[in-house]
Amino acid sequence: MTGSLTDRRARLLGPGVPTFYAAPVHIVRGAGVWLWDADGRRYLDAYNNVPHVGHAHPKVVAAVSGQLATLNTHSRYLHDAILDYAERLTARMGHGLSQVLYVCTGSEANDVALRMAQAATGQTGLIATDAAYHGNTALVSAVTASRTPIGGRPGLARLVPAPDRPGAATPEGFAAGVRAAVAALQAEGHGVAAMILCPYLANEGFPDLPAGFFGPAAAAVRAAGGLVIADEVQPGFGRLGSHLWAHDRAGLVPDIVTLGKPMGNGYPVAAVVAGTGPMAAFRDRFRYFSTFGASPVAAAAALATLEVLEEEGLQARAAATGRMLRERLAALVPPWRATVRGTGLFLGLAFPDAAAARAIEDGLRAEGVLTGRTGRDDAVLKIRPPMPFDAGHADTLAAALARVLARTPPPS
Ligand SMILES: Cc1ncc(COP(=O)(O)O)c(C=O)c1O
Repeated sequence: MTGSLTDRRARLLGPGVPTFYAAPVHIVRGAGVWLWDADGRRYLDAYNNVPHVGHAHPKVVAAVSGQLATLNTHSRYLHDAILDYAERLTARMGHGLSQVLYVCTGSEANDVALRMAQAATGQTGLIATDAAYHGNTALVSAVTASRTPIGGRPGLARLVPAPDRPGAATPEGFAAGVRAAVAALQAEGHGVAAMILCPYLANEGFPDLPAGFFGPAAAAVRAAGGLVIADEVQPGFGRLGSHLWAHDRAGLVPDIVTLGKPMGNGYPVAAVVAGTGPMAAFRDRFRYFSTFGASPVAAAAALATLEVLEEEGLQARAAATGRMLRERLAALVPPWRATVRGTGLFLGLAFPDAAAARAIEDGLRAEGVLTGRTGRDDAVLKIRPPMPFDAGHADTLAAALARVLARTPPPS
């Protein structure tokens, strides 16, 4: 069955459409932290962050379907819900980030944020790390390491060594790379519009970094007249347990924040949050409109997701479950020369190489536990479950990992 589906995908979607795992999973249903495949087998979802408050959460389903059955238009008509959500979101953000621009994907949010910084500063240069992924538009691809644009990376984009590179693991070392990028952009006449960073460095493999790590780098960007964009598409909305936003945990004050994946619990809604100056500069320059971005249904999804997050105390639960799970994992992995990293419900096991991480990922899949991989070399096993993941689920994951490690020989 899975084999024939794989063939159909190749025939109908073309080559290179990725799937997870050596044996791809054919999922047909989800509820909470659980997924079921076409044969009725249940999997513990320890990977998916988009169903933030749980797969098919009844409150989000009711809000989306109720709104869909009532009205779904766009922001050229007046509607309360996009304003209600903007009020609640900005009340939870601070730093003068008081206005919201709605889009559908994290890529669009980052594309807008980069152009907003260019419009606000009058400069064009963009800085990101050399192991970042920020999305898939043409401009965002310029600041994404893994896929060089056709024709080469444009001169206005500079990628700086991420903290896993020699010399970049300290605040000053990282800032030295940023200063070099600033100097090069200025020398070539681009100037600096923005540095875009996931404050958790999610795609860089989220090394444990001290609060304040990005301070000297942000200061260098600001001294050049540039803005700081915090890409919260992965770590935002309380996943880290200690804070609602990763930039607050990192002690980074952003000028622009981008949101996506978990915002609508699977309904495609994303946003750019900024102060009045950058927002006005962007609107003035681009007169932006997104057909689907600011619909009443998108707002209903986002409102319900935020309400569930708070009503069910999921941020505090992420903190407690994450602490317990991190300890359990740390006790299991030393024979593998792996290390545990991360906080809240965003944890990783950094293996010596991608092959080792992949063997464990596939072993867990065989045990009915779904995880993923990330980092520059895909050597970090990524544990980033829906937020209702609790101590019992953490036990199930740790027990499965113990079994996988026991039957898989560590690298010699
Ligand atoms: C940090 C980060 N930013 C942006 C994106 C792009 O989001 P989307 O896939 O919704 O366009 C991703 C997607 O993985 C991401 O990890």
